[in-house]
Amino acid sequence: METTQKPERKPVIFSGIQPTGIMTLGNYLGALKQWAMLQDEYDSYYCIVDMHAITIRQDPAAFRKNILSGYALMLACGIDPQRSTTFIQSHVKTHAELAWILNCYTQFGELSRMTQFKDKSQKHPDNINVGLFAYPSLMAADILLYQADLVPVGVDQKQHLELTRDIATRFNSVYGNTFTLPDGYYPKAGAKIMSLQDPTKKMSKSDENVNAFVAILDDQDTIIRKFKRAVTDSEAQVVYREGKDGINNLMSIYSVVTGKTYEEIEKEFDGKGYGDFKLAVGEAVAEHLRPIRENYARYMNDKAYLEECYHKGAEKALKVSQRTLDKVHKKIGFIR
Ligand code: TRP
Repeated sequence: METTQKPERKPVIFSGIQPTGIMTLGNYLGALKQWAMLQDEYDSYYCIVDMHAITIRQDPAAFRKNILSGYALMLACGIDPQRSTTFIQSHVKTHAELAWILNCYTQFGELSRMTQFKDKSQKHPDNINVGLFAYPSLMAADILLYQADLVPVGVDQKQHLELTRDIATRFNSVYGNTFTLPDGYYPKAGAKIMSLQDPTKKMSKSDENVNAFVAILDDQDTIIRKFKRAVTDSEAQVVYREGKDGINNLMSIYSVVTGKTYEEIEKEFDGKGYGDFKLAVGEAVAEHLRPIRENYARYMNDKAYLEECYHKGAEKALKVSQRTLDKVHKKIGFIR
């Protein structure tokens, strides 16, 4: 029998995040918060993708720190290792193993068309390595190993997800049904957070201007100061309208963290200046992130607990992913 879908099976979610040191408010609202919200409805696998991160040169000491703090931050954001499988990619060998196999079912032309590869090649012209080129087939392996149904990612990853589906479809059509075809789950409007300094650009931790982004772990004063400096317009009217990119961004952030609608926000700040509004947004965001900062500090003070969590996570992930890898080996004719 070739059915992968047992009736009582909860749908599976997989997502990964790179351990880049700083994680922003955008990463939280657009990714980590959603992961936490989805974890009960789905059989969830959440992963720190350290193997993807080495496609760009990393300083070993900083990298080691960032992997651990990335993992701690994931837990601090409410992803519960009791309810989700939380692990570090390089701890689970099946990822590299399946990635190699999928490389042989991925075309050079397909990978050449990936816009992230083109962008990153331009940014790092002295290190256009094969790993950077094959980045999407490792991502496909991450997803397909767990037979994921749903993959929450930013829209910038849409092309990679579509390639994952293409690779899976190709493999399935040659060998019979092997992989579940995953769907992307993209954050809704409001979860796309723009730069505070140039609200036509996405908020990014690699912005050279630190006032352009809010880090999840920024302290209260820093957060408030960054919002006070946010670029808006000269109209002095808190309304959501096309062309008011700065105000729209602040309203959408305020709306997500307070649960208020745009109408309610417009009413609240009717007749008030941007100074009052920016301060209110800054305070609301700082308050919203407070428990995360506190949880993070607690986890970072308990390395033994973190270690226990990522070991258990890796064990479970290996068990599940090995089933898919065994199936793949058999299909392609490897001897057991
Ligand atoms: N490429 C993703 C990003 O940069 C991270 C990632 C790696 C990922 N593997 C994944 C996301 C699998 C979802 C599923 O955001």
